[in-house]
Amino acid sequence: MREVTIRPESAEDLHGIDIVNISAFEEEDEARLVTALRHSAAYIPGLSLVAESHDRVVGHLMMCRAGLERKKENIEILALAPMSVLPSHSHRGIGSRLVTSAMEQAREQGFPGIVVVGYPGYYRRFGFEPARGKGLECNLPVENEAVLVFELEKGVFDGGGEIIYPAIFRQFYQTGH
Ligand SMILES: CC(C)(COP(=O)(O)OP(=O)(O)OC[C@H]1O[C@@H](n2cnc3c(N)ncnc32)[C@H](O)[C@@H]1OP(=O)(O)O)[C@@H](O)C(=O)NCCC(=O)NCCS
Repeated sequence: MREVTIRPESAEDLHGIDIVNISAFEEEDEARLVTALRHSAAYIPGLSLVAESHDRVVGHLMMCRAGLERKKENIEILALAPMSVLPSHSHRGIGSRLVTSAMEQAREQGFPGIVVVGYPGYYRRFGFEPARGKGLECNLPVENEAVLVFELEKGVFDGGGEIIYPAIFRQFYQTGH
């Protein structure tokens, strides 16, 4: 694992990131989602991370802007997605390092919370909790159980509200995900 470095993406990584996403998801939709997000207002420089091993991109994780809407508030939070590791490099802790690095970066940039749609069993180990348990709705057409949140600012998700993903994600999920 020592030979794996986690760092923000650079322009030279984009082809490698595509390859990782296409290989991990066995389709091109997630690679297209990443490209669309990168060219959108939701993109935040420094929060699209790569795992590099021997000058090759072997993992990728993106976090982008999302919202938490309440009666009188509209709070900017982060959405973690997508995340991928080359199948040849999976089960070695690279995904976990990407998640923990992303969480540190999110804290450093001052965001109050993170939302993810994914395998509950995977993300709970990092401290993510079911959004539903906090009275949170989500604007994506996904199973409630798959929506998890992590608070960086104490109590940010208390009091419920609706998590608003950027429109690009709605289009992505409406086409069959
Ligand atoms: C999910 C993924 C990013 C994990 O990356 P990784 O580097 O293998 O992760 P780690 O080594 O840190 O952790 C591995 C653990 O993740 C969990 N895990 C991996 N894939 C999982 C899955 N499909 N469902 C639930 N848990 C899973 C297992 O507990 C696994 O433990 P094990 O190695 O003891 O079997 C990688 O398998 C991947 O790219 N999968 C395809 C794309 C994908 O589904 N992305 C996630 C979308 S939420």
